[in-house]
Amino acid sequence: MKSAQEAILIAAFGTTISHAAEAYKRFDAAVKARFPGREVRWAYTSTIVRKKLALRGDAKESVGEAVSRLAGDGYRNLSVLPLQVIPGVEFHLIRREVSAFLQATEAGGVTVRVGDPLLSGYDEAVRVARALISDVPKERKSSDAVVFMGHGSRRHPADLFYVALNSILKEKDPLAFLGTVEGHPTLDDIVKKCKAAGCTKAWLIPFMAVAGDHAINDMAGDGEDSWKSILEKAGIGCTPVLRGVLDSPGVRDVWLDHLADIVSRK
Ligand code: CO
Repeated sequence: MKSAQEAILIAAFGTTISHAAEAYKRFDAAVKARFPGREVRWAYTSTIVRKKLALRGDAKESVGEAVSRLAGDGYRNLSVLPLQVIPGVEFHLIRREVSAFLQATEAGGVTVRVGDPLLSGYDEAVRVARALISDVPKERKSSDAVVFMGHGSRRHPADLFYVALNSILKEKDPLAFLGTVEGHPTLDDIVKKCKAAGCTKAWLIPFMAVAGDHAINDMAGDGEDSWKSILEKAGIGCTPVLRGVLDSPGVRDVWLDHLADIVSRK
């Protein structure tokens, strides 16, 4: 297999926030360093993000569009890495777009493999938990809570991955809590447990690929519905950390290993 015919497609949710897009660029560099000699392209799964960026003259492709164009450009061996955290709605959208492409006649002779999302089993969850704990700022005191904000999903059973990761985190650090914006565990759960544990301070850290809109507004924002405001109202002072897990070396390596599982070996 000539590497000139191989390509990697990174399928991210997408972001309109330039600071968050910088984290995608750093991940792009890490992919190119680990898998040299391959074409590396990106697709954004979010239609809303793609529309907003297109209005700014920064058009991005969907997974279906990117895969078709790679095939049109002569790439025959495609590896798609989902930058999703759980095998939920976005991940299955990627799978569907790839299946639709493979069923179309123009796909003749093209192989497309889709990798696993970040959390795809117990071993990854343990690696991720370890990385999350080791990335907590060193200034944290042992009596401070650490609250990670994941996305969550009320629309998909893979929401349970967050519940599982939360319990694995707890084994490593009794004052580490994982909550989600749109699923389980909820912030209410965390507030109750922080108060029961007597915590008066919490570090707020995104458990999302990048520190985008949810991290900036729903986690660290000044609005009365933000996690920071709700925790502070409950008497728990907050220090937000605006860094996504793509910038955590330990978490990044799990994604890169998932890519290594699907790229062809020479
Ligand atoms: Co969202």
